[in-house]
Amino acid sequence: MLRKRKNSKIILAIETSCDETSAAVLEFQEANGFPYIKTLSAVIKSQITLHKNMGGVVPETAARAHVQYIRPIVEKALLNANRYPLSAIDYIAVTQGPGLLPSLLVGVEFAKSLSFATGIPLIPVNHMAGHLYSPFKQIKDLRFKIQDCFPQVSLVVSGGHTILVLMKNIKEYKVLGQTVDDAAGEAFDKVAKMLKLPYPGGPVVSRLAEQGNPKAINFPRPMLNQKNYNFSFSGLKTAVLYHLKALSTKHLALSTQANICASFEQAVVDVLVTKTLRAVKEFKAKSISLSGGVAANNALRESLNLKSKILNLDFFVPQKNLCTDNAEMIGITAGFMLNNGYKPKTYKQVEANPNLSL
Ligand code: KG4
Ligand code: ZN
Repeated sequence: MLRKRKNSKIILAIETSCDETSAAVLEFQEANGFPYIKTLSAVIKSQITLHKNMGGVVPETAARAHVQYIRPIVEKALLNANRYPLSAIDYIAVTQGPGLLPSLLVGVEFAKSLSFATGIPLIPVNHMAGHLYSPFKQIKDLRFKIQDCFPQVSLVVSGGHTILVLMKNIKEYKVLGQTVDDAAGEAFDKVAKMLKLPYPGGPVVSRLAEQGNPKAINFPRPMLNQKNYNFSFSGLKTAVLYHLKALSTKHLALSTQANICASFEQAVVDVLVTKTLRAVKEFKAKSISLSGGVAANNALRESLNLKSKILNLDFFVPQKNLCTDNAEMIGITAGFMLNNGYKPKTYKQVEANPNLSL
């Protein structure tokens, strides 16, 4: 017997924008302000071992793996939520973009086929909105009053994007600035490659950084003093490269590697935190949120947490498994979209869009 709240709806969510094949089932109930959203199941199949040898994600390899995993992963999410094969699913939410087109196509076309066969309507979700809305799960858990967190300054930092957003309320947001070249996560990954560290670079660099001295090398803080909310990380990455060349040795001691990682990480954190706090001041924000894969970084989480405490602001960041790509955040965002009046689409109205912007 399937139990659910009266009038609640069930969302099957699918995410395949890069190298994680993920599905989740969520229960959603409309409400004034904050909807009720409960995760019934969440499954992620990471492709890390597949891409490790190549030192990064190979789009065609990723897409082939999505094709292989998508059905078993969706089945597992449905089984774990007691909804197998597709019992009482009201909506199918799917990541529409941005991301790698071959990867996106697998999730979108799978969702469209399910919709074609069953008539279940689709909710195409912007992957970056997925990250943006992921911290709201925590706000809901804490039973915060919705009006208490807005305006909110939200920092969304992933492998492909670095975006500073002003959330005026739960429906309306505005991009204040973004990276003009590399994303923060991309810089972590490239520095890891220069140090010959395994893929994915971010978590490895951040683990090594914990053993190093963040003041050992004074790397540049790009665009820190520019009066805008844009970011640039390509110069910082080049500064690390020049530093390595100047050391002129192929075999770095662990302590040297750790100092490079810690100093690089500190430069990234300084820029991200300083610009976030500047926006908080200008827009008189009542809270700060942090999301995206780089939000799993301890130094960044701790720094923003500390600054928020000093300013007496609430700070929201998802638990680490909700920072990197996952379908649960796509389902959460679909729930907020529905609550904000979104009209679901038919399978004929949805196409993958690798360049979708926030
Ligand atoms: O959001 P995400 O899973 O995928 C994209 O939408 O891009 O983010 C992945 C990025 C990668 O660049 C990865 O290296 C970075 O997040 N990342 C981290 C950490 N964990 C993941 N960067 C720094 N520190 C971490 N602990
Ligand atoms: Zn992402």
